[in-house]
Amino acid sequence: MTQIYQASCTAPVNIATLKYWGKRDTKLNLPTNSSISVTLSQDDLRTLTTASCSSSFEQDTLYLNGEPHPIDTPRTLACLADLRSLRAALESKDDKLPKLSTFKLRIVSENNFPTAAGLASSAAGFAALISAIAKLYELPQNSSELSMIARKGSGSACRSLFGGYVAWEMGELEDGSDSKAVEVAPVNHWPEMQALICVVCDVKKDVSSTSGMQLTVATSDLFQERIKNVVPKRFIEMKKSIVDKDFAKFAELTIKDSNSFHSCCLDSYPPIFYMNDTSKKIIKLVNLLNEAAGKIIAAYTFDAGPNAVIYYLKENENQVLGLFNKVFGHLEGWEKAESLKSKFEILEKFPI
Ligand code: ADP
Ligand code: DP6
Ligand code: CO
Repeated sequence: MTQIYQASCTAPVNIATLKYWGKRDTKLNLPTNSSISVTLSQDDLRTLTTASCSSSFEQDTLYLNGEPHPIDTPRTLACLADLRSLRAALESKDDKLPKLSTFKLRIVSENNFPTAAGLASSAAGFAALISAIAKLYELPQNSSELSMIARKGSGSACRSLFGGYVAWEMGELEDGSDSKAVEVAPVNHWPEMQALICVVCDVKKDVSSTSGMQLTVATSDLFQERIKNVVPKRFIEMKKSIVDKDFAKFAELTIKDSNSFHSCCLDSYPPIFYMNDTSKKIIKLVNLLNEAAGKIIAAYTFDAGPNAVIYYLKENENQVLGLFNKVFGHLEGWEKAESLKSKFEILEKFPI
């Protein structure tokens, strides 16, 4: 019987607080701006991927959530080619190593949260795919090096190679060799930080992140202003707010950047709407909460979808969760008036 080699990895979701939106190179997935995110705990929203290979496999295959999923897309193929060539380099130096780089791959992946619904499934998905194959191939590359491969699969995936607070430095080189993820601070730097995930709607979005950002780059004037005059300064300020554990500043920048990103979506032509009426109610609620507290105790952010992530500090948990529960917990059927597809669940609160 031919031997089957196998390795498994999980990768968590990361939620950007300074958004990546726009590519300067679509082939290499090079961004128009640097971004920052918080990686959630491995115990919460995560992808689990198993990669196996064998001389008996006839083609590369990918199963996602129990269904066959295309693997022959340019971006996935680019990731596989990079990983195989790193493995081939090891094999060329050591004759005893099995020639895994020449075997076909069988990849089985599962997300424990909604896929393609604006909860960063492409981030956790590609980070887990790259990590599982790197483990299978016993590659010596570090997280930053692997992040450059994950980036080619999905930009946001490069940041899920690290835990805690992560920056994706956009880089300036044409070959993308300086466009990688780096750690801003480990998770235990700011253990008081909490994230509440509000799943407003778990159905697949109608405009993927990839096509949405392409449209914004091509048509939005506001976007030009964002990448030239807004994000570069915000990138420096947000990193500092994390290092200083300055929640009020971090929250203000996070809120403003979510607003700026969704404004660019609206300014695209034709406009893109990722947030819905429930999302807007969440924004109002967070504003009311902060007003009542007399300081910023909660920050909302929305990715390319209607679902909210609320960042807050443990010391304010009763206030934040209390109000969310009061407002949304007793309003059964309220969402249905807006859209039959839409549902609101404060699923859980996830400590980061
Ligand atoms: P999201 O907001 O969930 O990141 P995107 O539009 O960015 O949505 O990407 C969704 C796509 O990412 C999916 O259609 C699928 O092709 C890919 N993807 C999601 N999860 C995985 C996974 N576990 N393994 C491989 N690819 C995945
Ligand atoms: C709004 O990384 O999903 O979540 O690189 O085309 O796969 P591709 O896009 P993707 O875009 C993420 C956009 C965002 C912001 C962010 O995560 O920084
Ligand atoms: Co995505």
